[in-house]
Amino acid sequence: MTEPHNPDSTPPAAAGATVFPGGPALFRLDPRIAHLNHGSFGAVPVPVQEAQAALREELHADPDAFFVGAANRIAAARARVAAHLAGGTADPDGLAFVSNATEGANLALDAIAFDDGDEILVTDHGYGTVTAAAARRAPVTTVRLDPYLPDEDAVRETVLAALTPRTKVVLLDHISSPTARLIASPRLLAELAARGVTTVVDGAHAPGMVADPLAGGADFWFGNLHKWGYAPSGTAVLAVAPAHRGRVRALVPSWEDAHGFPRSVENRATADYTGWLAAPEGLDLLARLDAAKVRAHNSALAAHGAALLAELPGIAPLPYTEGLAMRSLRLPPGFAETPDAARALRERIAAEHGIRVLIWPWPGGGGIRVCGQLYNRPEEYERLAAVLPAYLRRA
Ligand SMILES: Cc1ncc(COP(=O)(O)O)c(C=O)c1O
Repeated sequence: MTEPHNPDSTPPAAAGATVFPGGPALFRLDPRIAHLNHGSFGAVPVPVQEAQAALREELHADPDAFFVGAANRIAAARARVAAHLAGGTADPDGLAFVSNATEGANLALDAIAFDDGDEILVTDHGYGTVTAAAARRAPVTTVRLDPYLPDEDAVRETVLAALTPRTKVVLLDHISSPTARLIASPRLLAELAARGVTTVVDGAHAPGMVADPLAGGADFWFGNLHKWGYAPSGTAVLAVAPAHRGRVRALVPSWEDAHGFPRSVENRATADYTGWLAAPEGLDLLARLDAAKVRAHNSALAAHGAALLAELPGIAPLPYTEGLAMRSLRLPPGFAETPDAARALRERIAAEHGIRVLIWPWPGGGGIRVCGQLYNRPEEYERLAAVLPAYLRRA
């Protein structure tokens, strides 16, 4: 799939950044705002909002019928999602709907039997709530991945070098949130498996953004459908390799507990299941639009944004993974070095200019991540590039 790219060797490509025909009209986003942060919360296309609204009407018209039939409908929706994520190798029983990536992480880590002395290896790129889930279960060792590591091989070698005889589990991002790069490459996962390490992959950004998100063959993999899969908010999946499925237990027991994974995990009594039921509509929409075309479009926009920002004084491009819809760059030292400072800068840019963009904290200088999506236009990145230098001059 994707190839890492060292920015020192070639300038970032900005060719092909266009407006996707009909793309912006698929969403009901506030047109006054430049939404350059699809990666954080996604955005639900109108046809998917309508599909979910129709399901809600059905629910409220006859709640008894809706809830009695829910488990079978969820199973059917799950099979459709599995087909999108795994194509010909789809195994609908290997996947459960969950609410979000963080829930997937907790379910996965609960299904692993830790002995005294076992450790979990995480990286400093990991998402906070997911790393916290690991730290609840076992002692955690954090491997530092320099954002400037040139390529996938360097990432792989750094992770492998941090293994110790105590490493029971390695928890990796599929695509990292701050640096927007591939971490859990299939080769790294295979090498970890060969060493008897249990692999847990945070694929929060993978569904919809990469072509074959389950191809790495991790022991546990979870991913959000509501980011790049156009599914309703609060829809995600947890995929579990056959050997581990018997150990997965719902975080809250339900009437479906005896059915085991995946049904036991999905039953939340009288919850609103309409998001999961409408989730296949999002992935269907992506397929109808031509997923490869959407990915190329989104990636070209992110590259366009990165190329503009890279020209600004003090901003340094980072190595990136070819073909992804997000790109990150580094801010100068003294900016966004802490979570509070990063949040404050992000909120100031939003309040003063109506631009939503992720600023991520990092010691020695935080970073900025731009996303490309069907609703974005090249000029939105130009807006950001025009206002950012003023913030970087301020203390
Ligand atoms: C890499 C990564 N993991 C996990 C999450 C958490 O997702 P959620 O809030 O849906 O649990 C995010 C959210 O942006 C993320 O980027």
